[in-house]
Amino acid sequence: MVVLGIETSCDDTSVALVNSSRQVLALETANQDKVHKPFGGVVPEIAGRNHSQFLLPIIDSVLTKSKMELKDISGIAVTHKPGLVGSLLVGLVTAKTLALVNNIKLIGVHHIEGHLVAPFLMDDEYKGPEFFKEPFIALIVSGGHTHLYLVKEFGKYQLLGQTIDDAAGEAFDKFAKMLSLGYPGGPLVDKLAQSGDDKKYLFPKPMSKSNDFKMSFSGLKTSASRLISQLKPEDIESNKNHLCASFQKTVVDSLIEKVKTALVQEKIKKLVISGGVSANSLLRSRAQQLCNELNCELAIPPLRYCTDNAAMIALLGMMKLQQGLTSGQDLSPIPYADLQNI
Ligand code: KG4
Ligand code: ZN
Repeated sequence: MVVLGIETSCDDTSVALVNSSRQVLALETANQDKVHKPFGGVVPEIAGRNHSQFLLPIIDSVLTKSKMELKDISGIAVTHKPGLVGSLLVGLVTAKTLALVNNIKLIGVHHIEGHLVAPFLMDDEYKGPEFFKEPFIALIVSGGHTHLYLVKEFGKYQLLGQTIDDAAGEAFDKFAKMLSLGYPGGPLVDKLAQSGDDKKYLFPKPMSKSNDFKMSFSGLKTSASRLISQLKPEDIESNKNHLCASFQKTVVDSLIEKVKTALVQEKIKKLVISGGVSANSLLRSRAQQLCNELNCELAIPPLRYCTDNAAMIALLGMMKLQQGLTSGQDLSPIPYADLQNI
């Protein structure tokens, strides 16, 4: 069986083919970073318009490169929640039309649940970990989400805590904007931080005293903004790498602290970290250190499956299809949707 995945929830137009052995047969993504860069963030209208321009040619290209036709496809999985409504609509209308016309099963999926299964994808260079069906702690960190879950099994999610304001990726992006680094900011901060001294500036660690799994990044953003406004332009310029290293360390410390408490408190020995921010090199190495310390298994997707991609959507669609969880033509876009037990 092969499932075609379509992801258009934000600004990436992505299409993939995944088979029932979790193998990615094809993945193509049109990145819109350049178009949104001048605005310092995603402009929903522009994102939607670009999706409608890119999507059909990418579907064609993925099928052609894999030497497959729509008649070879068992299901079409599409992100229908959460996301920008205009962006979701483009993927959804396309998926529904292709499914109806070609008599293919339609599977609506939750974007965050897609990130959760991303570490379990496989391709010629990456084999997902063994613990596919076990309970695990999952941290989903992206531009829109910073959520900590206890995953008892796929479909059974207990939200332990989430950010009460900005998402971690959003904090990286806004911090990068303060330093005029460009967009999206996360990878640029990560790169500059490599040569920086993370002790040069001290930022307050968010929510370190809260005895729960709540996270917060807007206070950190404000304190970074205050510090930067007090520095001379030439000092900012010559200390960008130190500022990035200190900011990144504070975000990562805060995330790792919550994850550690969750693993210990829930007595779980397996950890999944996924979403765009899981591409962060410090977060990846600190998560590995933590898992070594606690004798836990760690699953973080390779970089190509960290940020938004349709392979994770196709895999989730395959899992749902195998359980008979398909959708009807009344499937609609839902801009705001928590990941609850489904
Ligand atoms: O999952 P994703 O592609 O889209 C959303 O669903 O939001 O995540 C994008 C976010 C952006 O905020 C971007 O700055 C951040 O992930 N990001 C990173 C890194 N790579 C991407 N943040 C920190 N370090 C990185 N290396
Ligand atoms: Zn995402």
